[in-house]
Amino acid sequence: VPVRLADYRPPAWLVDTVDLDVSLHPTATRVISRLALRRNPEGAADAPVVLDGDGLTLVRVALDGAPLAGGAYEATPQSLTLRAPTADRFVLEVETLVNPTANTRLMGLYRSSGNYCTQCEAEGFRRITYFPDRPDVLSVYTVRVEADRAEAPVLLSNGNLERNGPVADTGRHYTIWHDPWPKPAYLFALVGGNLSKVPDHFVTRSGRPIELGIYVEPGKESRASYAMDALKRSMRWDETAFGREYDLDVFNIVAVSDFNMGAMENKGLNIFNDKYVLASPETATDADYAGIESVIAHEYFHNWSGNRVTCRDWFQLCLKEGLTVFRDQEFSSDQRSRPVKRIADVRTLKAAQFTEDAGPLSHPVRPDTYREINNFYTATVYEKGAEVVRMLKTLLGEDGFRAGMDLYYDRHDGDAATIEDFLAAFAEATGRDLSHFALWYAQSGTPRVTATGAYDEAARSFRLDVRQETAPTSGQSEKKPVMLPLTLGLIGPDGADQPLTLGGSNMPHPVIEVTEAEQSFVFTGLDARPVLSLNRGFSAPINLSTNLSDEDLVFLAAHDADPFNRFDAMQGLALRLLKTGAAEGRLPDATPLVEAARRVLTDTTLDPAFKAQALALPGENEIAREIATDVNPDAVFTTRRALRAVLAEALAAPLGETYDALTTTSPYSPDAAAAGRRSLRNLALDYLTSGATSEAIARAQAQYGAADNMTDRFAALAVLSQHDTPARTEALADFYRRFVNDPLVIDKWLSLQAQIPEEGTLERVKALTLLPVFSMSNPNRVRSLVGAFAVGNPTQFHRASGEGHNFLVDVVLGLDATNPQVAARLLSAFKSFRQLEPARRASAERALQRVAVTPGLSADVADIAIRSLS
Ligand code: ARG
Ligand code: ZN
Repeated sequence: VPVRLADYRPPAWLVDTVDLDVSLHPTATRVISRLALRRNPEGAADAPVVLDGDGLTLVRVALDGAPLAGGAYEATPQSLTLRAPTADRFVLEVETLVNPTANTRLMGLYRSSGNYCTQCEAEGFRRITYFPDRPDVLSVYTVRVEADRAEAPVLLSNGNLERNGPVADTGRHYTIWHDPWPKPAYLFALVGGNLSKVPDHFVTRSGRPIELGIYVEPGKESRASYAMDALKRSMRWDETAFGREYDLDVFNIVAVSDFNMGAMENKGLNIFNDKYVLASPETATDADYAGIESVIAHEYFHNWSGNRVTCRDWFQLCLKEGLTVFRDQEFSSDQRSRPVKRIADVRTLKAAQFTEDAGPLSHPVRPDTYREINNFYTATVYEKGAEVVRMLKTLLGEDGFRAGMDLYYDRHDGDAATIEDFLAAFAEATGRDLSHFALWYAQSGTPRVTATGAYDEAARSFRLDVRQETAPTSGQSEKKPVMLPLTLGLIGPDGADQPLTLGGSNMPHPVIEVTEAEQSFVFTGLDARPVLSLNRGFSAPINLSTNLSDEDLVFLAAHDADPFNRFDAMQGLALRLLKTGAAEGRLPDATPLVEAARRVLTDTTLDPAFKAQALALPGENEIAREIATDVNPDAVFTTRRALRAVLAEALAAPLGETYDALTTTSPYSPDAAAAGRRSLRNLALDYLTSGATSEAIARAQAQYGAADNMTDRFAALAVLSQHDTPARTEALADFYRRFVNDPLVIDKWLSLQAQIPEEGTLERVKALTLLPVFSMSNPNRVRSLVGAFAVGNPTQFHRASGEGHNFLVDVVLGLDATNPQVAARLLSAFKSFRQLEPARRASAERALQRVAVTPGLSADVADIAIRSLS
């Protein structure tokens, strides 16, 4: 049965305090919980106490210290209901047994490499003990954790450590943790195991000392130093950018190797997929370092946006996730290059969210119904959610936005809040009516905006006509115009921005607000025809088409003061060629793009990281999305290959010079500037190798062998992997030998091979699943191999024979019984199947139907299958 936002009711019972006593054991962990229950004056009167459970074994129940007889309650693995009427306030004691070793779903209490850990968001706490497992029940937790000292010398939970010691004559020991901040159960965490602590300190702005710890597998300590550095920078940044200080005496992070998602913001005890903690120059790429920095920041920032102010219900997930993604994006922008970060974020947004929104899994940033909440940790909730917050900032300006944030935190500290609460804070702090803006949370789909500019020489004016339209999406046939904050510039022939005069007055901010389906803006006082630069910085998350000519795009690529739009002009030129090329089987004349690319490549004033982004062609999935109907992935691939070859040949000389000029002997440093130089050099290598001449292959081999860091070694391997040569076989074998004992590096090796755009890849992928380094029970391995094949290899996944689709379905059905969350995530790779040409579309549909008719599916996989087919 689906859950509906409209059905929200306040909880009938509240839990003021939770006392947990968890005695860890590999197969029979005993959990005793004492809940101080209190009838909620705001809740339904007379409602009985009903606690959620999931697969629990009940041992006993007691009420205010007295054991409850069997008839006084009803217990199933899914719920615990008190039958008899109770006082309005009492203490319920419940003892349950759980088996963490058998927990393959990685939700609740489970084991990873022998260590005990938990994941409770969204509904995992009910797999540990019976509880009103909903985010609007906030409690103060005291947790005693006990374990065999040899098995688990480290015992952690949320908050501050109160006490620890031995349990007499047992070889066991315990710790007691107290978290003074009321929190929902999804923020509970517990860790026990043999872990090494990397210690550090932080002093908050107001002078409070904080003890920091990152816990990793013994031997991996040195790989946690970058994460620790990122953590301290995050803590400082939230103080200066948002005025938010840390609020406990300790902050701990634990890295585990089996984790369904990226990381989790449990209060004072973040638990991470080790992929987002561990890095060394030899094993992690620049992209890995950037990923660690942003995920460490993201989880830390949740301490305010998510923990101090949490969500009333799971429909409000974007309240914490969209806001926190926005915050981590801003952090990375301040630590690195803002334009380059923006370009990277928009690439991700388009690849993941625009694709999602264009297919059957489309949903609003705040969904109003769900069957399985874990399927809504999506690009729409996260990335589009962040874009909506960014638009708010564009609309309200720096100061208005900060005033709104401050009011939101002041007013809702300690609350479980809603999107309405969030918007009301901004409306009140700034006096703006945000009722129309709120539609961004409720309406799904990417608005398609058409902008037509015309210069009137006689009137010295420029008229801009803007039209917006959102196509119907699943479950929403009627669409309304949304509010679009469009940042713009009008560029004169000299390349400089002209003053913007609208309605006779100078615009204080270069932003127009479009609220209607059609709207016109007339800018005056323009002596020459300007070139329009619209949606600068991607100020609104839209599909924009304009009447700009190729010459205009070339001009923007060379002159736009907004680096994002310079990048976007290059991409626009390329996309026009690629779309036509894929449709007609022949690439049109690419000279304008080639000349624009030459200018970017040889412009000495540009940041190398920016150049690398601007010169990278749109990916196959982005091209497919632009084509939108009857896509043939082979045609897309061939056209993209052809355009790359054209650019490579025309720019061979400057690419070679760029490569050589960026070759360095200085030791590796992960900083943004050095990473940018490597990214441009490796982009040049990729172009230079596109013809696969023996000289080019030799250059890639040389780089592979000589590299002192993973970025350069892996970039060379990636280039070699694209060409069926003995050099590829050799390099892949060498890489395996070097890193066979390093699972996170093996993931790169798996993922690279899964993306080889050749006929043999499906067989290769199947063979790789049989290697001892692969395991279907580890989410990172599965995503790296099977996920990369399905999402990153369109020609082979969508093979006309249907074998690629069948393979994915086999994996999904095999995995569903043990880890439905990961299985459902894999299945969502079909999300864009409706844009395929008829034969491939039919094959994908058959594959999805095969899933849908399988008996005994998990709610997770059934939900994705049904919605994909809808
Ligand atoms: N709140 C986590 C984050 O920082 C995501 C956890 C989601 N886990 C899950 N099983 N749904 O984004
Ligand atoms: Zn998050």
